[in-house]
Amino acid sequence: MNHADHVALLAGGVAQGEGGTWADLGAGTGAFTLALADLIGPHGVIHAIDRDRASLAELRSAFVSAVPQAELRVQAADFTRPLDLADLDGIVMANSLHFVEDKTRVLALVRGYLKHGGRLILVEYDSDRGNGWVPHPLSFETWRELASESGFVATRKLATVPSRFLRRIYSALSLVP
Ligand SMILES: C[S@@+](CC[C@H](N)C(=O)[O-])C[C@H]1O[C@@H](n2cnc3c(N)ncnc32)[C@H](O)[C@@H]1O
Repeated sequence: MNHADHVALLAGGVAQGEGGTWADLGAGTGAFTLALADLIGPHGVIHAIDRDRASLAELRSAFVSAVPQAELRVQAADFTRPLDLADLDGIVMANSLHFVEDKTRVLALVRGYLKHGGRLILVEYDSDRGNGWVPHPLSFETWRELASESGFVATRKLATVPSRFLRRIYSALSLVP
């Protein structure tokens, strides 16, 4: 996947240039943070959270070279524990929820960081069968049920890209009522 693919996966859930405050949970080296930054534009703020400091350092320098205009705030933290985030316009979780076995507890935290009408964009492998690298993936159908059980509404698929690994990747948008 390249930058255009990352942007395409998020684009249906983010209005171009709308700004707002977002978080990218499990941001890694920032592939989707950069895509989000391009989409929200100069008035946006992105909290990039990851437990891996080395990835966050790489993300910081990638952000500087790519010169997006959104503001980046980087934080080394475990997203399975409560974070100091509130009233967010949106959250991206890209290829990070599949590391969590007990997703319900994490999703309750995630929902609590979003304002009413806030958006959660999930990017995941479209599979319910994991492996050593992707331990607990969830197909879109499974996500739709889990999102509803976790208090999100209007879950819909945004886009898919083929993947050599676990067949394909989807993005999905869910809202906080
Ligand atoms: C496969 S990478 C995905 C990175 C990026 N979102 C992407 O799609 O390119 C998963 C990232 O999630 C992070 N991660 C996994 N579990 C985490 C947790 N509980 N708290 C914070 N970060 C976590 C890992 O450190 C890793 O950087």
